[in-house]
Amino acid sequence: MNHVGLIWMNGEHVPYEDAKVHVLTHALHYGTGVFEGVRAYETPRGTAVFRHQDHIERLFRSAAMYFMEIPYTREEIRQATHETIQRSGLKSCYIRPLVFRGAGPMGLYPLDCPVEVAIAVWEWGSYLGDEGKQHGVRARVSSWRRLPSDVVIPAAKATGQYLNSVLAKIEADKAGYEEAILLDTHGYVSEGTGENLFIVKDGKIATPTYLSSVLGGINRAAAIQIARDLGFELQERQVARDELYLADEIFMTGTAAELTPVREVDDRPVGTGEPGEITRAVQRVFEDALHGRAERYADWNDVVPVPAPTP
Ligand SMILES: Cc1ncc(COP(=O)(O)O)c(C=O)c1O
Repeated sequence: MNHVGLIWMNGEHVPYEDAKVHVLTHALHYGTGVFEGVRAYETPRGTAVFRHQDHIERLFRSAAMYFMEIPYTREEIRQATHETIQRSGLKSCYIRPLVFRGAGPMGLYPLDCPVEVAIAVWEWGSYLGDEGKQHGVRARVSSWRRLPSDVVIPAAKATGQYLNSVLAKIEADKAGYEEAILLDTHGYVSEGTGENLFIVKDGKIATPTYLSSVLGGINRAAAIQIARDLGFELQERQVARDELYLADEIFMTGTAAELTPVREVDDRPVGTGEPGEITRAVQRVFEDALHGRAERYADWNDVVPVPAPTP
């Protein structure tokens, strides 16, 4: 990570070294936090946060589902993010808002612990690598199932839930793959460790739904809209594991990974083994949207104001 000088924490900008928590922080023990992964890109209108409002909405929804009241308004979080980016001097960056239960009464009942908020920004390349974005990644179906909604709340982006992704990621990496694909507890395809998944067969696109315990990805929503606007038929439905082996194309979407094709699943090439035409078509428009080059999606870019020069 390329550390930047300032982190916004509980209403103030603090130097990187001072952005600390107590060892009895509740979230450290029990995973009682919710967070977002957001990105800002350099666009022709200046640095702009991609689908910022959607990320803030999901942060508040995740918090509410775990009975956490965020002690700031949505607009205050947006402004604080803008300021943190401005102060970092970065033209493009990854943004990590984190809401967590701080130090308070120990034990599993969390509601008497304070709710703390931090926002950090740093420079971060694509999660699955630029090479992966170009030529696709090798994935394997994980032995770990995506956690179901009768155990936790997969639709919430909660810190403790990520132990599931961590186990799958380590397993995939140790076996020599770049990414894991998790099935749901019924054996249908769910998603990657930090990405939603799309398959393409005979010109039609399909992607799993909440029925398969997916996180409601913001880039998933963007890719669905782009694909439909391009005239492709896209179904949100359950996807069987063998459809991964039958697919002509597979791609994944997520803030960290952006739009990354999958070229191999469980040692079987996907289609020709190179990213296919539909993946490429959606990826092109998606990249344009991220970088503010797609007029049609201009309102997805929340431009960070340039601070007035100090006299
Ligand atoms: C488990 C999981 N699924 C899917 C996604 C993709 O979501 P988004 O497109 O909102 O980044 C993420 C990343 O946030 C994730 O962590």
